[in-house]
Amino acid sequence: MDPYVVTIDGPSGSGKGSLALLLARLLGFSILDSGAIYRLAALKALNENVDLQDEQHVLGAIRTLDIHFETGDELTIPFLDGKDVSQQVRDEKTAAAASIVAAYPSVRTQLLAIQRDFFSPPGLVADGRDMGTTVFPDAKIKIFLNASSQIRAKRRYKQLIDMGLSANIVDLQNEIEIRDERDRSRAVSPLVPASDAVIIDCSLMELSQVVDLVMSHITDINNQRF
Ligand code: DC
Repeated sequence: MDPYVVTIDGPSGSGKGSLALLLARLLGFSILDSGAIYRLAALKALNENVDLQDEQHVLGAIRTLDIHFETGDELTIPFLDGKDVSQQVRDEKTAAAASIVAAYPSVRTQLLAIQRDFFSPPGLVADGRDMGTTVFPDAKIKIFLNASSQIRAKRRYKQLIDMGLSANIVDLQNEIEIRDERDRSRAVSPLVPASDAVIIDCSLMELSQVVDLVMSHITDINNQRF
């Protein structure tokens, strides 16, 4: 079978990351967490103290972006300028900055090639906001994963607490809704399902049920004869 891409798009906290990880393992594919790329770019801009409201300054800071990922036992560890930045990258301050810099067309263009380079045989599972619409428009399988903002805030809260970080659930829901609105309404690559994506609302589903549903969809598509 030719190598192919599975895209998983959706809002923050919908469970894209966990779904992508399990699918990549089941399929033996590599994985792209594109949100981490935007977070690393934002972190670089924050480290350089650039004015986040100034697109050209942000672009200047990320023109030479020294990032890479290393696979640990369970997690993928992000590195910026040779340093492990797993903690800073997950911080809500970095997430908010990522959402701001991600709205700049020049920043999105700058990060396009980095994301596409993740595709190699036998295939890639890519998660983000515009994987199926912009980064991999020819992907064989496209999923759009959604869940209510309340459920997503609860999941994000648990994630942060499990990582030893502090969090407030009401603040998280507010931040998620603000970020969603910004991601949905931006002019370039807004958070919308690709026209050929399968839309799954997983508010009331266990992760294992979502994995089963997507795997059966992948099997159906792979068995289709033209
Ligand atoms: O998925 P995440 O929470 O790690 O993403 C952080 C921010 O990055 C999010 O607010 C929007 C942005 N992002 C994006 O614009 N496009 C992507 N493909 C992935 C993330």
